[in-house]
Amino acid sequence: MAEPSKENPLPIAGGAKTALPVTPPLVAAGAAATKPAAPAPAANASVPPSGEGIDRRTLLSLGPVTVSWVALAWASFTAAMALSAGALGRFFFPNVLFEPPSSFKAGFPEDYATGKVDERWKNLFGCWLVRSPDDFGRGPGFYVLSTVCTHLGCTPNWLDAENKFKCPCHGSGFRRTGVNFEGPAPRPLERFRIAWADDGQILVDKSKKFQQEKGQWTDPESFLKYG
Ligand code: FES
Repeated sequence: MAEPSKENPLPIAGGAKTALPVTPPLVAAGAAATKPAAPAPAANASVPPSGEGIDRRTLLSLGPVTVSWVALAWASFTAAMALSAGALGRFFFPNVLFEPPSSFKAGFPEDYATGKVDERWKNLFGCWLVRSPDDFGRGPGFYVLSTVCTHLGCTPNWLDAENKFKCPCHGSGFRRTGVNFEGPAPRPLERFRIAWADDGQILVDKSKKFQQEKGQWTDPESFLKYG
């Protein structure tokens, strides 16, 4: 039997000198046991590390509810950007109301038939041009009537067969001269200034109006003599 030695304190039967495996020091093992473990991989492997984009595969794995929330967020963001762009556009291009000029050339006298109410300027300039064989004893010529009903501002219609203007709103009637004769309209249609342009055309000037009830229809500028 071998003697115990410093290297092999346990005697071995038969005298064989067998080296025992050297175990690591306990201190080292304890230290290894107390060392904090490395972080375990995330349970949900589909969550991408921060700073990386969400690829299509990841999106699919997030499920329909998550994807719908992402889509909703993008839609809201896009709508907000569109609204901002619209507001910016309105700032640089504000609403501008384009109105026709207050005066215009209405053509030559031969363009109009005697005794007729001409409606070619009704929609664009809001007036009728009438070529009359006689206007209150002043002889033949032209005058311009406003298309605004003097009751509440509707636009009457010219009824050629009945030789009158008829307002569709409350039934007021006006004669060819513009004088009211039926319905609630309290006064005649207004007339506008009419004159000759430099080139011989008829000039209509809506910036100046004439009201019969104020005696203004006798003003020379309310009637254009011709013929
Ligand atoms: S607005 Fe023309 S009759 Fe009332």
